[in-house]
Parts: sequence; structure tokens; C-alpha cells
Amino acid sequence: MSYSDEIKKLNIKKDAVILAIESSCDETCASVTCGRELLSNEIISSAEIQKKYGGVVPEIASRYHTDAIDKVVKSAMEKAKVSFFELDAVAVTYGAGLLGALLVGLSYAKALAFSLNIPIIPVSHIHGHLSVCYLVDKTLEPPFISLLASGGHTAVIKVGCDGEYEILGSTLDDAVGEAFDKVARVLDLSYPGGPNVERLATLGKNCVPMPKMLKGQGGYNFSYSGLKTAVINYVHSAKMSGREYNKCDVASSFQSSALDILVEKTIEGAKSCGINTVTAGGGVCANGYLRDKLKSACDKNGLRLVIPDKHLCTDNAAMIASEGYRQYLKGNFAPLSLNAKASLSLK
Ligand code: KG4
Ligand code: ZN
Repeated sequence: MSYSDEIKKLNIKKDAVILAIESSCDETCASVTCGRELLSNEIISSAEIQKKYGGVVPEIASRYHTDAIDKVVKSAMEKAKVSFFELDAVAVTYGAGLLGALLVGLSYAKALAFSLNIPIIPVSHIHGHLSVCYLVDKTLEPPFISLLASGGHTAVIKVGCDGEYEILGSTLDDAVGEAFDKVARVLDLSYPGGPNVERLATLGKNCVPMPKMLKGQGGYNFSYSGLKTAVINYVHSAKMSGREYNKCDVASSFQSSALDILVEKTIEGAKSCGINTVTAGGGVCANGYLRDKLKSACDKNGLRLVIPDKHLCTDNAAMIASEGYRQYLKGNFAPLSLNAKASLSLK
């Protein structure tokens, strides 16, 4: 019997043990879950090396994934105290991300699944960021409103009763994380930009005028290009005229402007849909200012907030395992011909 024929006959188990692999950018990640229980979550990052180049160099990312993949998987299996023969499936990010980087994780996952004769679960990185909340709060069930804020996406999403996604609004131009990274460069901060802007912002005051992008307008959509340009212009004109400016104040003012709008539109989405649970995901949700603002806005409006710990907001494989488990329960398995995709739609 062929590999795919055997997979079709598989019994779906509620307490399935899943190994997940994520390699879409500069972090090589592996995680093991049992049902909605997180057993291990390991990361080997090439960020320190990428720092020298001011951002992610795709070829360097691929090379480091190749070196790290076996180590990170073995470490995740050891920490979970699970043997390869106990695995029920291998979940893997097949998009969106850097093609060469994705292919390292995908090839490894395929080879492992084939040799163990277990299914491969294809997972969208974007859906992973949304689904990690199912591990964080094991009672979480749709419907809920999700704020997705990462380096590639910015959106407010309604997750309906049967788990389907309805995008209430998204960015019309740059993603919020992209704006953080650009502002970091303008302020001479090193890669990765977001956490460094946050660090500076905590030392400054929100006193530099910034445009209020789509505040009270544009439905649930966002726009970050105007804000980004405002920061660039402010810094450049100060430099040109030899005027002193306070980087911490610029960071603080930018951060408030960029993040307040996310909180406002997420709460508005929950209230207008009559949904009382809010979740959040994506690297920008590791930002302390955003976490505090979202928490107090949810409390004020009587909404329950499920937000992952910071290390589960930025890229990791636990999120891939969590979404992988949802797909596993639906029997959504991939053939061995599964290919990597640089971009995937949000839905
Ligand atoms: O989710 P993620 O790790 O990767 C993508 O799927 O894009 O998000 C990365 C983005 C980067 O733009 C990074 O600067 C931003 O998240 N980020 C932050 C913080 N930590 C990461 N932005 C603001 N504050 C942070 N603490
Ligand atoms: Zn991500």
C-alpha cells in the first residue's frame, strides 16, 4: 500500500501527539503537543548573525536552518519526552515566508513523516499566529475577535462559530511590524527593530505630533505609510537643520500612534459583532505598551482577553502545532508533493 493510501485509513485521535516545524524566516523552531497540551517549544535563532546585515538575508537564513533543523527537532522531542514512534503527525509551515527557508523545514517534515508513515499537516504561518491562543487557554472556542499584528500582517478578524475567518479590516499599505522596523532604522537602532523601538519608547514622552491614521474612519482598516513617512520627515528635517531631537520621545510618540489604533478598532470590532472574547497574535503583540492597553480596554468593556506570552507572539513552532492539531482533527493532510509558498492569503 502506498504512503497516501495508508494515511487515508488513519484513525483520528483526540490526544494526538504532533511534532511541528517552523522555518519561514530567521528562526528554526520545533514543538511537540499532545492535543491542546504544549509539551515542548524550541527555537534556534539566526537573529544575532542577521543583525550584522541590518535585516534578514534569505540565503543566510536558509543556511542556518539547514544547520539547526536536526538539533532543534531532537531537542523538542527530548524536552517533550516523546519518541519518534509515538508521533501521530508532523505539522509544518508551508507559507508564507522566505522560499528557501520554508523549503528546509518542509523537506525535513516530509522525510520524517514518510519514514514514520504518518501524515503531514500543511500549516499557514498566519493561521498559526491566530491559533496559538487555543494552547494558551484550553477553554477557548470560537466565536472571538482576533487582532493579528506581525511583520507581514495587520488585521482585525472575526473567528466565527465554526472557526472560519472573516476579515473585518486590514492594513491598506504597510504592516505595523514593518513600520516599527523602518522607524528603528531611522532612529539608528539595530535589527530586530520592534523590541528596540519599544525599549527607547519606555524612556520617552508622547509629545511629538504624529498623524492619526484612519482614526474614527476607514472602518476596521489601518494605514501605516503616512505615520512611517511622518517619522522619517521629522528626523530628516531635524538632522538637516541641526536641531536637537529626542529619539526616545519620537519612539514613544510613534509607538502610541501605531498601537492605540489597533486597540481601538479591535474593541470596536468585538462590540459591534456582539462577541465578548478577544485574542491577539503576531510579533507586535509582544509589545508591552500594546499588551497593557489591550488588557485595560478589554477590562473596561467587559471583554475576555486571551493573549499569548511574549515568546508565543513572535515566531515559534507551538503556534504551528496548535493550528496543525485543528487541521488534524479535520483530516486535512498534505501529499508528499506539498510545495512551499512565499505568500498566502489571510483567509
Ligand atoms: O510575527 P513575527 O515574529 O513575524 C512575522 O510573521 O512577521 O513578527 C515580527 C515583527 C517585526 O516587525 C518585529 O519588529 C515586530 O514583530 N516586533 C515588535 C516587538 N517584537 C517584535 N514590534 C513592537 N514591539 C515589540 N516588542
Ligand atoms: Zn510570524
